[in-house]
Amino acid sequence: MVHYNSAPLPRWSGDSHRRRYADCFERMLVLFLLLADLMERESKLMQRTLVLLKPDCVQRRLMGRIISRFEDKGYNLIAMKMMRITPELARQHYAEHVEKAWYPTLEGFITGGPVLAAVVEGIDAVDVVRSMLGPTNGRDASAGTIRGDFGCSRQMNLVHASDGLEAAAREIDLYFDKREICEYDPTISSWLKAVDE
Ligand code: CDP
Ligand code: MG
Repeated sequence: MVHYNSAPLPRWSGDSHRRRYADCFERMLVLFLLLADLMERESKLMQRTLVLLKPDCVQRRLMGRIISRFEDKGYNLIAMKMMRITPELARQHYAEHVEKAWYPTLEGFITGGPVLAAVVEGIDAVDVVRSMLGPTNGRDASAGTIRGDFGCSRQMNLVHASDGLEAAAREIDLYFDKREICEYDPTISSWLKAVDE
């Protein structure tokens, strides 16, 4: 027969153990919450956007200078390829414009020569890349923006960039297979922003 010793442990010993466990648990919880908060903030900040260097950009030999702007900003190029956009892909990409009167000329332009498709990744990349492009019409775009510095056309405005997070996800899927995306952590990461930013 098994006899259990039901005599209570000295009170001081059980209390201090419990207190130590509680302290340890509390610290782990705080650490976990801090880590979760940091990860959530990081995932909100790090975004991907689809950039297309349009046929005018390729023909005018401006690809290198324009890609440099995104690199200079501290963004990662995590996928790139030269390709021809087919009329079908143009219709998918510009689905919101297909019914517009000017769509046929846009399709003719965008399918009229090779483009460079790229995925740009970085902090708040979707909005920041759009602001780096400037407004649609190069004549309205300020100096310092890509469209403002390199063009004066509404259609031949050199670069496309996704206009929101949803559009970015849809457009990246349209142009790239997942296996073509090559993400990496650049060694300069710790010099691009503060950890609590
Ligand atoms: O590219 P973005 O989002 O700034 O402009 P959009 O209004 O979504 O138009 C898509 C593209 O269609 C533009 O970048 C232009 O190349 C072209 N476009 C055009 O050919 N004629 C217009 N009246 C407006 C836009
Ligand atoms: Mg647009």
